[in-house]
Amino acid sequence: MSRKIAVITGNPRKNGNSFAMTEAFIAVAEKKGHSVTRFDAALKKIGGCHACETCFKTGKACSFNDDFNEIAPAIIKADSVVFTMPVYRCFIPAQIKGVIDRLFSLVVGGKDVVGKKCSLISCCEENDMTVFDGVKMPIERSAELLKWTMTG
Ligand SMILES: Cc1cc2nc3c(=O)[nH]c(=O)nc-3n(C[C@H](O)[C@H](O)[C@H](O)COP(=O)(O)O)c2cc1C
Repeated sequence: MSRKIAVITGNPRKNGNSFAMTEAFIAVAEKKGHSVTRFDAALKKIGGCHACETCFKTGKACSFNDDFNEIAPAIIKADSVVFTMPVYRCFIPAQIKGVIDRLFSLVVGGKDVVGKKCSLISCCEENDMTVFDGVKMPIERSAELLKWTMTG
């Protein structure tokens, strides 16, 4: 069955490991007949949440006009949301935090996003795999809040 997949990357380095893994994932997904919308958060203008709670009340996801408004419709339409990012200082890169925080807009805006699948692709330098904890936790807990199922 063909699925709509939103891929959200969080790395400013275009020729690095996480983009290579992202591109490999997209190539296989498209070969299998899925449609992919990719959003490179770290190459866009995207800030944090202002907590104004006016999400979707002005005809767009966020009342503050930045590039989150480009990805929000793709997230809403997607069957699966895939986050890709490296580990930065034991956590997620700052550039993708704005996207993660603003998933809250889907709740405030009353969007029906329950039941999506969510996945994470990440890379790091250390050999200790617990370094991924700081990347997994915010993605897994955010997915849980939205009633999305982590698939890997
Ligand atoms: C600002 C910054 C912080 C990093 N912090 C960590 C870290 O805490 N632990 C780790 O294992 N690797 C860390 N790394 C290494 C990257 O996670 C690793 O090199 C990764 O492959 C980079 O992804 P990229 O090749 O897609 O750019 C850091 C790299 C940068 C640039």
